[in-house]
Amino acid sequence: MLGIMLFGRGRVSEWVHTTATWLVALGTTASAFWILALNSWMHTPAGYEMINGQAHITSWFDVIFNPSFPYRMTHMLLASGLTVSFLLAGISAYRWLKKDTAKEVMASLRAGVFVAAVLIPIQIFVGDLHGLNTLEHQPAKLAAMEGIWKTQNGVPAVLFALPDEKSQTNKFEVAIPNLASLYLTHHWDGEVKGLDAFGDKHPPVAPVFWAFRIMVGVGLLMLAVSWWSSFELKRHQNISTLTAKVLVVMTFAGWVALISGWYVTEIGRQPWLVYGLLTTAQAASTVPATNIAFTLATYLALYIALLSAYISVVFYLANKATNKLENKSPAEPNSINFTEYKNA
Ligand code: HEM
Repeated sequence: MLGIMLFGRGRVSEWVHTTATWLVALGTTASAFWILALNSWMHTPAGYEMINGQAHITSWFDVIFNPSFPYRMTHMLLASGLTVSFLLAGISAYRWLKKDTAKEVMASLRAGVFVAAVLIPIQIFVGDLHGLNTLEHQPAKLAAMEGIWKTQNGVPAVLFALPDEKSQTNKFEVAIPNLASLYLTHHWDGEVKGLDAFGDKHPPVAPVFWAFRIMVGVGLLMLAVSWWSSFELKRHQNISTLTAKVLVVMTFAGWVALISGWYVTEIGRQPWLVYGLLTTAQAASTVPATNIAFTLATYLALYIALLSAYISVVFYLANKATNKLENKSPAEPNSINFTEYKNA
């Protein structure tokens, strides 16, 4: 199916190609479902009983639909949609900047921008619910995300800080008083547990704190950019040069938010592998550290190579499509007028 989707266009009929594309989407979503069910169980285990130190299933339903799964699944699917929307909008804006305003380019630009504009407010709303679920089930992770060291009432929302593990404080903190209590407990003066409530059983604070801010920061940027671009497209049937450049810069913004999100989730789970049941230290293998470092370095090198290849192929294809169009006569039907608005 993947082969038909990637290489079949023009070689098989349109409906076969579209069906193959839908089947690939369905297959990857089914795969995400099971991966996230397992991952979520490790964060919020349910539907089991411990017998002689082993987890035995009492309800498969509760195992799969454990407390964090619905939030993680929805948040991840929306994240995938946003990632692709910005990829589509960014590549189309890149072609647009190269004066390629073929109707396919404008259609994919519009699709990317409009879909992102619809998905991002839903993502922010779901992200908020996800955070409340984390507060209930993994409060130490939430305290690290928010940079809250001490259990207190009327907790401020920390916008910027350098969390310092040694002194258990935030350096250079910029915060809005009481705001975190308000969005976490829905009370101006509500109590939120700080890291001090968990002894040494809390994650490293700085990476979780920063990854969370990067994810939310990119999310807010996505909101501003997609809504502004939608406004321009609705009003002028076109975008300005500045907007096109911003969209190009944000081509891979989805991946940045996505990786930051996973950093929050997985570093935030430490020191637990299965939350409250099994620590990472207990599950660590006896394989020598040098072997693990070598495997990790090989993975990193491979992924950097694949990522570089991916980015260059994406832009190579965009350039190729644009050059092909430039060689066509201007009277050909799939080019539209390049309006003066572009230079605004
Ligand atoms: C702007 C508002 C956002 C909020 C409030 C938010 C909230 C959260 C929270 C609380 C978590 C950690 C949950 C946990 O592990 O317990 C998380 C994880 C994650 N976020 Fe976000 N998020 C936002 C935006 C985004 C955006 C824009 C993306 C990607 C396009 C994204 C992708 C992810 C991913 C992939 C994870 C890890 C998987 C998961 O645990 O769901 N987030 N987010």
